[in-house]
Amino acid sequence: MTTSHSKRRFRLYAAAGLAVAAALGLGAYTYVQQRPSALFNALNPKTEIKIGGPFSLIDQNGDTVTDQTLLGKPTVMFFGFTHCPEVCPTTLYEMSLVLEKLGADAGRINTLFVSVDPERDTREALADYLGSFDTHIRALTGPLGEVQRMARAYRVYFRKVPMEGGDYSVDHTALVYLFDAKGRFVNPLNLKQEPEAAAAPIRQLLNPS
Ligand code: NI
Repeated sequence: MTTSHSKRRFRLYAAAGLAVAAALGLGAYTYVQQRPSALFNALNPKTEIKIGGPFSLIDQNGDTVTDQTLLGKPTVMFFGFTHCPEVCPTTLYEMSLVLEKLGADAGRINTLFVSVDPERDTREALADYLGSFDTHIRALTGPLGEVQRMARAYRVYFRKVPMEGGDYSVDHTALVYLFDAKGRFVNPLNLKQEPEAAAAPIRQLLNPS
C-alpha cells in the first residue's frame, strides 16, 4: 500500500462479519476509502446491489472493450494506474502468476486492468507498462468521464491526490473482481495466497463440477 492509498483501511471481516468475509476468501485487509457501507453491501451475496454496468473503453491495442464484449468468458477486473508505486504492480504481478498457473485456460478468461488515470495512461503508456506482465492482461483507458461512469457502476472509488512538485498520485479501490461468463459478480479474488489457490475460483467457473 502506498501512503496515499492507505489513509483509511477497514478490517473488512470485522465490519462485515467474519463468516461472510471468510467465505469470500478475503485477506486480512481490504482498504476502501469511501462509501464502505455500499461496498460491504455489494460484497454481501445476500443483497441485491449490483457490481458492474455498461462501459466502453479501449485497450492497449486500440480495440474497443465494452461490458458486452466481455460476455462469454469469466472476467477478472481491477482498477489502478501505471504510476502506482506498489499496489498495482504487485497485483499485476500476482495475477500474472495466476495466469501462468492457468496455462491454456488463461485464454478462456478476460483479465482487465482499468486505468483510473487516463490522463497519463494513454493506450501507448499502457502497452508499454504491460510489457512487464503476463500477455493475457489487457489494460483499458478512455475519456475520464467514461472511466468515472464505469467506476461508479463497479463501485470503485478513485481520487487524484496532489504531490509535491506538481506531480500527483491516485487513491483507488484495490479490490480484484471476479465475474462469471454472464457478467455477474462472483466474489473478490484473493491474490494474497499461492497462485494455485488464487486460481481455484477461476477454474471453478471454467469447469463447474
Ligand atoms: Ni494502485
